[in-house]
Amino acid sequence: MSSYAITTFGCQMNVHDSERMHEVLRGAGYTEAEASVADVIVLNTCSVREKAEQKLRSEVGRLAKQKRNQRDLVVVVAGCVAQQEGERLVKQLQGIDLVVGPDNIPELPRLLEELAQGAPPIVRTVFDTETPKFLTALSVAGASKTAFVTIMKGCDERCSFCIVPYTRGPERYRPSAEIVAEIAALVAAGVREITLLGQTVNSYTDPTKSLPPAPDANESDPDESEFAALLRAVAEQVPDLARLRYTSPHPRHLTRSLIRAHAEVGVLARHVHMPVQSGSDRLLKRMIRRYSRAEYVERTAALVAAVPGLTLSTDIIVGFPGETDEDFDLTLSLVREVGFKGLFGFKYSERPFTPARKLADDVTEAQKSERLARLFELSERLLGEHLAGLVGSTQRVLVEGLDKEKGELWSGRTDRHEIVHITGAAGLDLAGEIVDADIVRNNKHSLQGELSAAARASARPRVAPEKAARRSLPLVVSATQGA
Ligand code: 5AD
Repeated sequence: MSSYAITTFGCQMNVHDSERMHEVLRGAGYTEAEASVADVIVLNTCSVREKAEQKLRSEVGRLAKQKRNQRDLVVVVAGCVAQQEGERLVKQLQGIDLVVGPDNIPELPRLLEELAQGAPPIVRTVFDTETPKFLTALSVAGASKTAFVTIMKGCDERCSFCIVPYTRGPERYRPSAEIVAEIAALVAAGVREITLLGQTVNSYTDPTKSLPPAPDANESDPDESEFAALLRAVAEQVPDLARLRYTSPHPRHLTRSLIRAHAEVGVLARHVHMPVQSGSDRLLKRMIRRYSRAEYVERTAALVAAVPGLTLSTDIIVGFPGETDEDFDLTLSLVREVGFKGLFGFKYSERPFTPARKLADDVTEAQKSERLARLFELSERLLGEHLAGLVGSTQRVLVEGLDKEKGELWSGRTDRHEIVHITGAAGLDLAGEIVDADIVRNNKHSLQGELSAAARASARPRVAPEKAARRSLPLVVSATQGA
């Protein structure tokens, strides 16, 4: 039987889609192999910024060369570039056999079979707008202690810079009972932490209308959704869940009912990633974000007041068309004012179809680089101060696995998303445990903590260390994607 390899670019939604592709392919009898020897290579692509798209083009070029020696190699392009470019990809780039959109993942085995029968290159990029399908995790018995669960897909916002509405289609929501059932199954299989996924995750409404309204829900508010009601339903119906997160929300739907849910639903993490994009009202308008700086500050302050100690992280675009030094200074002052503890910064990148194409991309590359560097410098300082302030404290850590780089150290996260490497746990199996760690040191992006005596006394011994889950933790904090 054939073997396959998947390379994933981009966001968590793509990571999640790749997991579903693994399941679909394994279910059809394919086996996973190293990319250098696989019969089928899937590139799950991202097009949110031009650089991500360029990566695909160079990777396809490389594979086209490989095909000269490996004539049967099948090259599949999936994800957002597939959806966005469709037929054009096959026409422009040599070597692609199949282009498959995010909503057509279940059809992969059938399409591969058609190719095996000698079909010419196939393009299948059809949104499932009529009867949206949400692929449920099949292999729930995996070693992972954390999992993503999709609750909605697509996006109805029209942020002027963003290609997502064109690559992921209109918003479609998953029935709440299905969401709760998938989470319950994952938790029963040993998952401790769930992250609810959606492009504007907090615009969620239940298509089956079966959720009781959340307290404080203001149904006449156009920004109100049923997201708070869903969070409450998950917490109530899956009491064994240890921690609940979500990504990515839109500030517009950070309503009173959601803030109240954070105060009252104990399983919710004390960290929210809330993309702001800019601190200048003039730019927020040009970006069509539909909130002002003051509204963002007021809502996030209310959230922090409701949940003392809650940390916020964000996404920021530098060099959006028309961004002046004054606008950028407003972004820096907002970052200071809100005190973000993590920040993803990106240089503006003009994208096909987006309304911002009508605006001149007039901030020079040098200015973009300089602004991004200043932004990272500030965010690193804020994070550094925050982490230094935690030295000497005791933190509850959900242990995710053995850290790849640090060898024998267990690593996990606090409910505020700080990464903690745990010492003093030699010979113990901490996977999936929630333990206390006495923080002894701060690194640039993480903490180091000594396992507390109580946790040490009650921990399981490690039976087969070579089989223990090895996971590397992606950085939560300052990213260099934009660089
Ligand atoms: N250029 C630069 N950054 C972008 N993002 C989305 N579209 C663009 C673009 N055209 C960033 C936003 C978003 C994150 C996922 O990617 O900050 O929140």
